[in-house]
Amino acid sequence: MPPSQLEITKYVDSLDLSASIGAVVGGTNGIGAGVARKLASLGCRVIVLGRDESSAERLGREIKVLKPRGDVGHIEFIQCDLRTVEGMNCAVRDLRAVIGKTRLDCLFLSQQGMPTGKIELTSDGIDSIFAVQTLSRFFLIRQVISEALVKPSGSIVSISNSGERFDLSLDDLSMIKRQSQGRGKLSLFVDQAKRDPTIIDSMIMEFRDRYPEYGFYNLMPGMVYHPTFQYHAIPIPIRWIHRMLMWMIGISADQFAPCPIYVALGDTTRRSDLPTTMNKRLNATTLGPWSMDPRLRLQLWDALDRHCSRLGQAD
Ligand SMILES: NC(=O)c1ccc[n+]([C@@H]2O[C@H](COP(=O)([O-])OP(=O)(O)OC[C@H]3O[C@@H](n4cnc5c(N)ncnc54)[C@H](OP(=O)(O)O)[C@@H]3O)[C@@H](O)[C@H]2O)c1
Repeated sequence: MPPSQLEITKYVDSLDLSASIGAVVGGTNGIGAGVARKLASLGCRVIVLGRDESSAERLGREIKVLKPRGDVGHIEFIQCDLRTVEGMNCAVRDLRAVIGKTRLDCLFLSQQGMPTGKIELTSDGIDSIFAVQTLSRFFLIRQVISEALVKPSGSIVSISNSGERFDLSLDDLSMIKRQSQGRGKLSLFVDQAKRDPTIIDSMIMEFRDRYPEYGFYNLMPGMVYHPTFQYHAIPIPIRWIHRMLMWMIGISADQFAPCPIYVALGDTTRRSDLPTTMNKRLNATTLGPWSMDPRLRLQLWDALDRHCSRLGQAD
């Protein structure tokens, strides 16, 4: 039986991470900032990747107030914009430079936030949400592994929804054709909200099979509130439903933070029992055909790989 939230929190609070180094993509705000704060308070050296420098500075001040364990926990900031493959490349380059000869114990990916129902094309000509939420996860994970920036036996935890079923169209992952067929904002919101977890679950399953020496997880947070939650971007009436659910069952980013840290840094015996894709109670999510079928996963992998190559990244 998975541990309770209380057991998870107690376990994580007992960790001394003063010899550990972690990176949190999308760690400047929201859920990622909660994870970065908690890691640093336990003594970890944390590299935070995001866009907003002032948020990173605020996070640094908050961490000092928390008096990190052993006085060593702190954050270092890498500014990056993950909407383009060039931006993803710069993020990896800067991460490599910051960590030098050391290797990450854990990498968390918590970038993007909610879908919006809008398709905004990046300078690479792809949907910005697809670029940040899914393509950048694929790109960053693949690069940190191929450059051995994470220790063997280290953990890579994606924080996103999981367990959705969506009929992916590999030649239209940005859903530009779908939009031109007259789908409105609300339908596109639902499509984005199903497309991204479908892709992320599938890629995490594929990474797990290809690189069994690492721990790969996709963790679904449920409803997590924080000061930068982008309610205004969510189309009505989903915005209203979301607000109500958040009020009824939401937890703060700081309350949620022990969960991904437990997944990444719990002792090996505990971690070996964890499913690859799970909800915040650490119960396995039910996967759709794209994640379950190795042939479909391979086709998706190739499509993501083609995007990266076409947009400037050679294997
Ligand atoms: N919160 C929830 O209730 C909830 C529920 C289900 C799933 N999720 C998933 O959990 C993940 C985190 O959600 P969240 O609520 O924490 O989102 P959030 O508050 O919007 O935080 C997103 C983080 O991603 C960074 N980011 C956004 N665009 C970026 C870009 N172009 N380049 C680099 N960094 C970028 C942001 O950095 P800057 O602020 O520096 O720009 C921020 O640190 C998302 O995948 C979301 O879909 C969240």
